[in-house]
Amino acid sequence: MHFKLSEEHEMMRKMVREFALKEVAPTAALRDEKEEFDRSIFDRIGELGLAGIPWEEEWGGAGADFLSYVIAVEELSRVCASTGVTLSAHISLASWPIYKFGTKEQKERFLRPLAEGTKLGAYGLTEPGSGSDAAGMKTTAVKDGDHYVLNGNKIFITNGGEAEIYVVFALTDPALKHKGTTAFIVEKGTPGFSIGKKEKKLGIRSSPTTEIIFDNCRIPADQRLGEEGEGFKIAMMTLDGGRNGIAAQALGIAQGAFDAALSYAKERNQFGKPIAKQQAIQFKLADMATQIEAARLLTYQAAWLESQGLPYGKASAMAKLYAGDIAMQVTTEAVQIFGGYGYTREYPVERMMRDAKITQIYEGTNEIQRVVISNHLLRE
Ligand code: CAA
Repeated sequence: MHFKLSEEHEMMRKMVREFALKEVAPTAALRDEKEEFDRSIFDRIGELGLAGIPWEEEWGGAGADFLSYVIAVEELSRVCASTGVTLSAHISLASWPIYKFGTKEQKERFLRPLAEGTKLGAYGLTEPGSGSDAAGMKTTAVKDGDHYVLNGNKIFITNGGEAEIYVVFALTDPALKHKGTTAFIVEKGTPGFSIGKKEKKLGIRSSPTTEIIFDNCRIPADQRLGEEGEGFKIAMMTLDGGRNGIAAQALGIAQGAFDAALSYAKERNQFGKPIAKQQAIQFKLADMATQIEAARLLTYQAAWLESQGLPYGKASAMAKLYAGDIAMQVTTEAVQIFGGYGYTREYPVERMMRDAKITQIYEGTNEIQRVVISNHLLRE
């Protein structure tokens, strides 16, 4: 066992860090302010071969592993958490279930453009009445000849409106509840499929979050993903990996805030010396760095398990739970170290603190992560 990243992983970090600093960071504050998604950043992600990091070259991917993927999300999130979640939702939530459960034809048609970054992906599970209780969904899909007719609405869709490909879940047999849930691939532009309200949010403001609406939306049966009744399992398995993408996002946010706080503490003079010379600040920095390192170990371990083909659901939930919680703590402390300046939009730490909050909420609240972890513990 060793903790040194391979040359390939170090190269991934270097490449994404350079891209993030040069092409993502300069507009992060403005995009946050204006609540604007910039598609050209995702286009560049595609050009750099980052849109399909873990998929084989056969499908247009980079043929790398899940550790490379989480390093990329971490580095993007270090400067812009919105860009981090754009990639995380694209790879973990939209592409992964197609990679895992799609037919050869579905992979050719949907996974390849996702992996090449010519199309953006999204995932639709949550509904107004079913968030943590994902099995409580109401959206229906009724078989009609060689089509399914979808009715209902999904909310809080990351990449909503901007994405071309949506993996969504609906009840093909409402009486069976979660066992009657089926997954579908829906394309933007399909009649009966529309984009509803765009949320105005506390953080990740340059990542669009919308409602999606199905109004007698006819989906060809060959866009069903997996078998009828397999949808809930597909949704849960997808989230097992997605949660580690969010752990990586949280880790990146925390690292970004720590880096900013450390350099500020060395420059800011009070009482005749840099505040970094005060033990009160030193202890904060020590705690922040320790928390970040622990979150990184959990996140990388979960990615490593997935890459090895070993069970990773519990590890991923632990990583998301811990990294989300420490991202909130670290960013709050970073604002504290910056003092009054930290509370203003002159510095990035207030944005990072706002961005951190969502990592405790989406892809399963941190309370739900504890349910997932304890379910594993009781089963083991
Ligand atoms: N892998 C495979 N199967 C799984 C599974 C997993 N990880 N988790 C559960 N299942 C299976 C169970 O084995 C069980 O199967 P059987 O019926 O055949 O026995 C079935 O699913 C039902 O399991 P549970 O009884 O445990 O289900 P539950 O209704 O009690 O719910 C839950 C469990 C963990 C609370 C689940 O509802 C959950 O994860 N909730 C949170 C939902 C969530 O994370 N939403 C986020 C949406 S995405 C997002 O945030 C937006 C974005 O774009 C970023």
